[in-house]
Parts: sequence; C-alpha cells; structure tokens
Amino acid sequence: MDAGAPVPWWRIAVVYHVYVRSFQDTDGDGVGDLPGVLQRLDYLADLGVEAVWLSPFYPSPQRDFGYDVAEYRDVDPVFGTLADFDRLISQAHARGLRVILDLVANHTSSDHPWFVESRSHRMSAKREWYVWRDPHPDGGPPNNWLSFFGGPAWTLDPHTGQYYLHHYLPEQPDLNYRNPEVLEAMLEVMRFWLERGVDGFRVDSASHLVEDAHFRDEPPNPAWRPGMRERDRLLHVHTEHQPETHEVLRHFRTLLDRYSEPGRERILIGEVYAPNPILVSYYGTSESPECHFPFNFALVDLPAERWTAEDLKALVEAYESSLPDWGWPSWVLGNHDRPRVASRLGEERTRLAHFLLLTLRGTPTLYYGDELAVRDVEILPDQVRDLPGLREYGGRWSRDAARAPMPWDDSPGAGFTTGTPWLPLPPDFRVRNVVAQRQDPGSMLHLVRHLLHLRRQTPALSVGAYRSLPTPPGVYAYERFTDRERVQAVLNFSDRTRSVEAAGEILLSTHLDRFGRGRTPVELRPYEGILLRPSA
Ligand code: NOJ
Repeated sequence: MDAGAPVPWWRIAVVYHVYVRSFQDTDGDGVGDLPGVLQRLDYLADLGVEAVWLSPFYPSPQRDFGYDVAEYRDVDPVFGTLADFDRLISQAHARGLRVILDLVANHTSSDHPWFVESRSHRMSAKREWYVWRDPHPDGGPPNNWLSFFGGPAWTLDPHTGQYYLHHYLPEQPDLNYRNPEVLEAMLEVMRFWLERGVDGFRVDSASHLVEDAHFRDEPPNPAWRPGMRERDRLLHVHTEHQPETHEVLRHFRTLLDRYSEPGRERILIGEVYAPNPILVSYYGTSESPECHFPFNFALVDLPAERWTAEDLKALVEAYESSLPDWGWPSWVLGNHDRPRVASRLGEERTRLAHFLLLTLRGTPTLYYGDELAVRDVEILPDQVRDLPGLREYGGRWSRDAARAPMPWDDSPGAGFTTGTPWLPLPPDFRVRNVVAQRQDPGSMLHLVRHLLHLRRQTPALSVGAYRSLPTPPGVYAYERFTDRERVQAVLNFSDRTRSVEAAGEILLSTHLDRFGRGRTPVELRPYEGILLRPSA
C-alpha cells in the first residue's frame, strides 16, 4: 500500500458474524430472517462493529441450513425476499455498516436445477458441471476420498451408473471448476450481488474448490490414532489446497477488484483451515492477489489448556511472522461450526479472549452472541437439527450447540421470536441477554462494546504495528503503535496476581472497574487484561 494512502475499510473494520436463522425472527415462525437483521442494525451500529457477514439465506432445502444452495440469486422465503435484502443493505450502508455474503461456491444443493440436469443423463449439457466418475473396477467408489460428514466423498447415482463427488453431505454435490462454464456461472452470481451493493464475500470451503485432476488416492495419515475422526485417517493432499483452487480464487478477486474503488473496496475472505505456511498462500501474491485475508482459526483451534500467556505469544508470533508483507492478519474466536468460546474457556478467560481478539493486529470477526458470553446449548439427541451431526454422531454431538437463538431479553421467546424457536433458547437467557447486560456496567457486553469503541478511536489499535514486550511468567504483553501513538496490552492469563513494570494511563481493564493513571508497577489481578497508554 502507498504510504499516505487511506487505510482500506476492511483493515479497520470489525466483522460481526450473523447466523441469520438464529439472530432475530420477525414473522413468528421461530426462524431468524432478513427483516430481523434489519431490525437489529441499530444494535450492531451501537455495539461498534463495521461489517456484518450474513450466513447463507438463498433458497435451499436447508439440509445444511443454507450451505446447500438451490438458487444463488434469490432469498429463501423462510428468510424473506429480495426486496427485504435490498432494504437491509441500504439501511446497513446508511449506518456505515458493510455487508458481506456467504458465497457457497464449492458445491450446490442436489436440488439445484444445475445438478438435477447434470444427473438426468450422461450426455446432459450440465453433466460436466459436477464431478462424475465411473465406479472403481470393484464396483465401489472411484477412490478413497472421504467426506467431512462421514463416509466416502462419493455417492453412486444408480440412474446413470456413475458416482458424483461431495466433500460434505451427498445432498451437496461438488461443482467442477475445471469446466470454465462453472467459473463463469459463479462469477455471474457474484456480479448479481455486487450490483445489489454487497461489500464482499466469505468463500465457503475455499480450500476445496478443485481436486486432483488424476483422482489419486489420498495417502494414510501416520498420525491417525483410534478416537480421531475417520476422515483424519487420510492426508488430504489431493483434495485440499490444489493450485487450481488458487486460480479460481484469483478469478474471484479480479472480479471484486473491478467492482472496487478507493473507500469502496469489495472484499474476499476465504474459509481455510490450514497451518500457517499453507494458510498464507491464500493471500496470493502482490501481483496476483487472492483473498484480502483467509480467516485465521488458530484461536478457535487452540485447546483450552493451551490458553496460556506463553502459548498465545508463540501462536501470535508464529502467525505474524508467516504473513507476507502485504498480508493483513485476521482473528476469529468462534463460528457456527465450533463450540462457543465461553464454553471452551469459561467466563473469566472469555473476557481475556475478547480483549485479545480486539487488540491484536488484524481484522477481528465476532460471532453473534459471543459478546454476551452465550454458551453452547445442550440439545437432546432426538432434538438435533444439524443433519451432519445426526448422521455422523447419531445426534450425540452436533453444531446446533453453537447456533442457539440470540437472547435479546427475558421475555418467553427471549425477544428472538414470538413463536417456537427452531432450536432451544440458551437456558440462562432470562439473566444472560442484551437488555440485562446493558444494565450491568461490568458485563461482557459492556466490555466488548468498550473495546470496539476504543479500537475505533485508537489508530494504534486498529492499524498499528505489533511487538511483544517482556513480562513475568503467566503474562502476555504487547505494544501496538503507529508513528504518533503507542498503546500496550497486558494480559494476565494466570490465576495469581502479577506485577508488571509499566507506567501510564489505564484505558481499560477487562474487569471494567479501573481507569486512569496507574501506579508503577501495575498489579494485575488473576485473569485481568489492561490496556495502557504508556507515559511518554
Ligand atoms: C463450512 C460451513 O461453515 C459449514 O457450516 C458448512 O457445513 C460447510 N462449509 C459446507 O458448506
């Protein structure tokens, strides 16, 4: 970036991830909808985020709750109409909020007319839009590839006698990007939404768009042990991170750049789970960029027992040092596929986690409800709605736990719905909800809001550089700085009081009970984080 050029919005922004089904229902059917998101835009603007990522709301049989798209250019009636979407985007923009859509580019629903046509006949004009293969000579699947949701990644279509590929449910057949018509069709989908004003896309399953041209078997994973997932028996060297996948992402990016202008960049975020050296390849190169950033799930994947000062410092620095010069970082604490941060870490450490998320260098993404420290909800096996959870784990585990309706108030439907919510409400919603936390000056909601507002007012925090500071054991500290400004984040991850040699003005404590000039040394209480403006 040119020195002196304005910082693009997406580097400064904090992204709020709305799982539309669970955010706000307006028609009493128990499922959140787009008018519901519209109704809550003031909440988001007041919270202090700058962008909203909406989970898929396109027409879909909802077998994977919208990640199985049957029509890319419309809104499922359960979520509203295109007119609702247009209203939502113009109202979001009026409040300075950007809107990012979920681009489910890797696969469609088996109900999508493209697939219906593709499977109708071996000679169908859309046959090559999906990945079809003859059976293995033994009659079984063409190779050993495995699906994320259990079993082979291939399903036999008895009518045409061939197998089709799916990395997820059999109802989510994989698109074939080796066919230029497919790429063109997806670019057309993107144009449709770009013309309607969207500010970017989160590319679902961005690392799986193209597979090995020779359909080679994947090798066994020597690290696999009983108890690990079946899919982890293999190393996915022929289905993930293929060079042709990067090519597709470059095409997506080129289109977005064409629709961009200064101050109005349209962005590409990749959903990629990978170790740093592979993850950073999704930035592309400075001449041939791909994602503005791939999500960095390192904090989502870090086991609770490793949320220590030492492990976190190592994690942050390994990530920072793997980024290319032009690669802007990303931080995430949770999403609709993983256990919630408050369940993983407990309340005290969740405060520190939010402090970290919002003071590290990079664009943070905040999962709805985490600002209240909503926990995973226990769902009885016979009430599980998540089909992959039902099929792979018989309902004993599912992603529903992290998808409970947003608790807005203590009314019978938690302010989420006047009907029966599609998933149980968080059991503590009568005390843990937006209204209650607004009234409690020490709440998680206040902490997150304070952090968001401080971040906005403090360029060192939003765009400054990062360097770590020396600390006693159990404490992680770093400085964020620009030419003009310095702030220091000091986080005590231990259960003991720790003193740190630091002088300056306390801008915030995660306990929300002290501000102003601190004494030297600063005493940090167990699991306390402070943000300090150091004395000159
Ligand atoms: C990743 C999404 O986050 C997840 O919810 C979905 O099931 C898969 N991709 C398949 O689309």
